[in-house]
Amino acid sequence: MSGERWHKVVDNAAAITEDMPVSVEVGEVPIGVFRIGGELHAIEDVCPHAFARLSEGYVEGEEVECPLHAALFHVPTGECRRGPADRGIETYEVKVEDGSVYVLV
Ligand code: FES
Repeated sequence: MSGERWHKVVDNAAAITEDMPVSVEVGEVPIGVFRIGGELHAIEDVCPHAFARLSEGYVEGEEVECPLHAALFHVPTGECRRGPADRGIETYEVKVEDGSVYVLV
């Protein structure tokens, strides 16, 4: 996609822990930043089923369960692994520079 660029979203990458993803906005885009197995991952932070923040869901291994109706998503790929959602979610590239987190949007 054209027009993508890196956006700084979190000042302190270490503040994002396995059980505490963060929700950020880049322009109008809500993004959840998760730490899974030590690696950071960024995904669309709105469940495609209705409206719930996946960053407020339950993380288990590499998956996050929607807090509203329990749809299940694979965080590294955005794949939907259980309904009621009927599609996956966007993923975004993440990098850490000088301790800060950037996402490519
Ligand atoms: S809003 Fe996520 S499963 Fe319904």
